[in-house]
Amino acid sequence: MKFISYTYPWLENVLKSEVEKRKINILEIWPWFVVFSGDISTMVKANLWFRTANKVYILLGEENIENFDNLFDFVYSIDWNYFIPKKYWISVNPHIVKSKLSHIPSIQKIVQKAIFKKLTNDSYYNFDEDKNIEVRIDIFKDKVRVLLDTSGDPLYKRWYKENISKAWLKETLTSGILLLTWCKSDVFFDPFCGSWTILIEKAMIDKNIAPWIFRNFLFEKFDWVDKNILEKERWRAKTREKNINCKYFWFDIDENMVLIARQNIKKAGLENFIKVEKADFLNIKISWWTMITNPPYNKRIKLDNIDEIYEKLFNDFSNIKCGWLITWYENINKKFYDFFKVRVLSNGWDRVKFFYKK
Ligand SMILES: C[S@@+](CC[C@H](N)C(=O)[O-])C[C@H]1O[C@@H](n2cnc3c(N)ncnc32)[C@H](O)[C@@H]1O
Repeated sequence: MKFISYTYPWLENVLKSEVEKRKINILEIWPWFVVFSGDISTMVKANLWFRTANKVYILLGEENIENFDNLFDFVYSIDWNYFIPKKYWISVNPHIVKSKLSHIPSIQKIVQKAIFKKLTNDSYYNFDEDKNIEVRIDIFKDKVRVLLDTSGDPLYKRWYKENISKAWLKETLTSGILLLTWCKSDVFFDPFCGSWTILIEKAMIDKNIAPWIFRNFLFEKFDWVDKNILEKERWRAKTREKNINCKYFWFDIDENMVLIARQNIKKAGLENFIKVEKADFLNIKISWWTMITNPPYNKRIKLDNIDEIYEKLFNDFSNIKCGWLITWYENINKKFYDFFKVRVLSNGWDRVKFFYKK
């Protein structure tokens, strides 16, 4: 079988390393996605372990197609009765780049029609309201790829996430940055913790905890997937956890955020490693710790003292050996660009600035 996992366009090499680390055979690397091959246990491992992938899809077929009749025939030729669990509604999710077939509603209609016809041989398709499966259609320069979701909820939904702050970072993005910029240190520090994310992801990477170990996946509903494989891979993942000596310190000025962060840390089983306290960053004295943080940026949370915060951030970053900050703040002082390495990253629709020091 062939599989595809998508990530952020600048993280494909990080995802590639994640695939290689699991000893999975890579077939192609594109900006945004990696194509790999394997069997059902490959699919299970990919879902359990890839920190930077948004989902894991099975590639059911690929072909050059330029008109709707051929699209219908091609989709109809796939063995949907084998792959789709009973009574699941099919949501068709097309992504088109530079192709003759470009009208999204028509593509959705044709693909759905072909699948329903194959499944029922009838015009009536009986499904349960709460059962839904995504079929992704990628068309790039007329090459159509038909993909079946195996993950269900996007993989950034970690199991420990109960409550979130107003301005949370996606875990796939956070772990991608953590894997991209490696700071060797015994103490990591985030003075703007919000509800969670950065240090939980960091501790999970350091302890080699599989990011999706306790969540459920769509593939568990597939008749053709042996459920013992998931249990076996979960057990294997547990045996791979490492002991670490690192400490992680988190602060936030908002007491509510501190309480939420504590709940999330406990849920992730990391309360012996990550400590959270209420504190104002302007009063915290930075020593030799490694700072990795996502400071406020005056969009979702408005602050009067934002420039004072960025002035102190600049001074603190100048004094430490290694660290990074990721921000959407538009009026960031020019000296950040002069003194630190910077990348402008795309986070879906947004552009994020990422400053780092190594
Ligand atoms: C962008 S959010 C961090 C989001 C976090 N990375 C997450 O994923 O949930 C910024 C946080 O900084 C906190 N904050 C604002 N001013 C602060 C200050 N002076 N000292 C410490 N924390 C502050 C806010 O309460 C907010 O939770």
